Amino acid sequence: MEKKNQSGLTRRDFAKASALAGFAILTAKSAAAKTNSDTIKIGLIGCGGRGSGAVQDCLNGNDNVLVVALADVFEDRLKGAREKFEKHSGKLKDKIDIKDDMCFVGLDAYKKLLATDVDMIIHATPPYARPQHIMAAVEAGKHVFTEKPIATDAPGVRLFLKAVEMAKEKKLSFVTGTQRRHSKAYIETIDKIHNGEIGEVLYGRAYWNGSLPFSHERKPEWNDLEYRLRNWYNQIWTCGDNIVEQHIHNIDVVNWAMNGHPVKVVASGGRAWKPREEKYGDLWDNFSCDFEYANGAHMFSYSRHWNDSKDDVWEQVIGTKGKSSCNDLGKDDKNPMQQEHIDLINSIRGVTPYLNTGVETAESTMTCIMGRMAAYTGQELTWEDALKNDEKLVPDDLSFDKAYPIGPIPVPGKKK
Ligand SMILES: NC(=O)c1ccc[n+]([C@@H]2O[C@H](COP(=O)([O-])OP(=O)(O)OC[C@H]3O[C@@H](n4cnc5c(N)ncnc54)[C@H](O)[C@@H]3O)[C@@H](O)[C@H]2O)c1
Repeated sequence: MEKKNQSGLTRRDFAKASALAGFAILTAKSAAAKTNSDTIKIGLIGCGGRGSGAVQDCLNGNDNVLVVALADVFEDRLKGAREKFEKHSGKLKDKIDIKDDMCFVGLDAYKKLLATDVDMIIHATPPYARPQHIMAAVEAGKHVFTEKPIATDAPGVRLFLKAVEMAKEKKLSFVTGTQRRHSKAYIETIDKIHNGEIGEVLYGRAYWNGSLPFSHERKPEWNDLEYRLRNWYNQIWTCGDNIVEQHIHNIDVVNWAMNGHPVKVVASGGRAWKPREEKYGDLWDNFSCDFEYANGAHMFSYSRHWNDSKDDVWEQVIGTKGKSSCNDLGKDDKNPMQQEHIDLINSIRGVTPYLNTGVETAESTMTCIMGRMAAYTGQELTWEDALKNDEKLVPDDLSFDKAYPIGPIPVPGKKK
């Protein structure tokens, strides 16, 4: 039996009531043919590869959901996604109804989408925009699915954490795209690790060694900001560097197995192969970190973008009685990238208890940022110092009329 709160509601009743309250503000326009009073209306912000994929995962996993709005900084990206969605047939076709006046382009496109009556957003821009957009989404009363990582700097993590707390107060369901947390194989294995199956965990290992996802040459018609945003995987302020952008998946698993975030780190790395060309921005191409947790356990992490390197992506924890790959003591029954959307929609509908995974992903993002800071500076760093760091990487005043020079590439000993 669930505990009741002061107004006599259980947590589940409350989540259901708040979800229904969202539906009650349907406008005449949105109550179009494909909607009924239970339909969850979805807006996608960031219509690239993952945004389109996340929409498909959500629609494949859930009924009575309808994508009604799109927002992207660039029109061609929005059009590409819209055309892809509109080519769907069968069951998926019935879950898409995007009118022209629900398509928004530009740096303020997210604000326009948030001003519509969508119940929930899928957020899949590059991470630089996440804290500001997610805060605005929660202020606007939307349920949230957001991709990882959730920021590229500590001020961004702090803002995101405020949004997470506000979402809890408003009972807005909130799921983050660290999909391993929604995999049955990982969930069952980590439960067993927490219950002592491999004894006391002494250390963890986390790897994301692969090649560079992309880097584009500048087109003559692209101004500075357009180039930076289209080539977002190559600047620290837009992507966070590879340890933050990709390696978060593995670091998140080890944090999960360790029941929290590390308290300090020493790290090194550098830029071994990348030429000093604008298309490669200011990123490094390799990091290695030794993180220490409060109980003295360690995590050794390796991440790199080396061309022609074989993908080597995994996690492992080692305990006093054995070791585990963190997913070898359980079995998956569904694609976790679909399951995360099923979990979100079930929470919104009150079918399952209120779900908010924001803190764990903010902590894992911060763990990666802390490793990056320790490597760039060559200094040992504590969690407290990293989290309160005030270096703001993302410019406040993004504009297509301004210049956004690259770099400098961080040099340990020189970088503060
Ligand atoms: N969970 C996973 O396994 C997984 C897999 C792939 C990508 N991702 C994450 O998804 C995010 C997007 O990655 P992607 O591969 O789709 O990149 P992408 O470049 O294909 O798409 C990003 C989109 O966001 C748009 N955008 C940029 N700034 C914007 C802004 N201010 N407002 C609105 N739109 C904006 C871009 O124009 C582009 O269309 C990244 O954070 C990435 O880490 C997660």
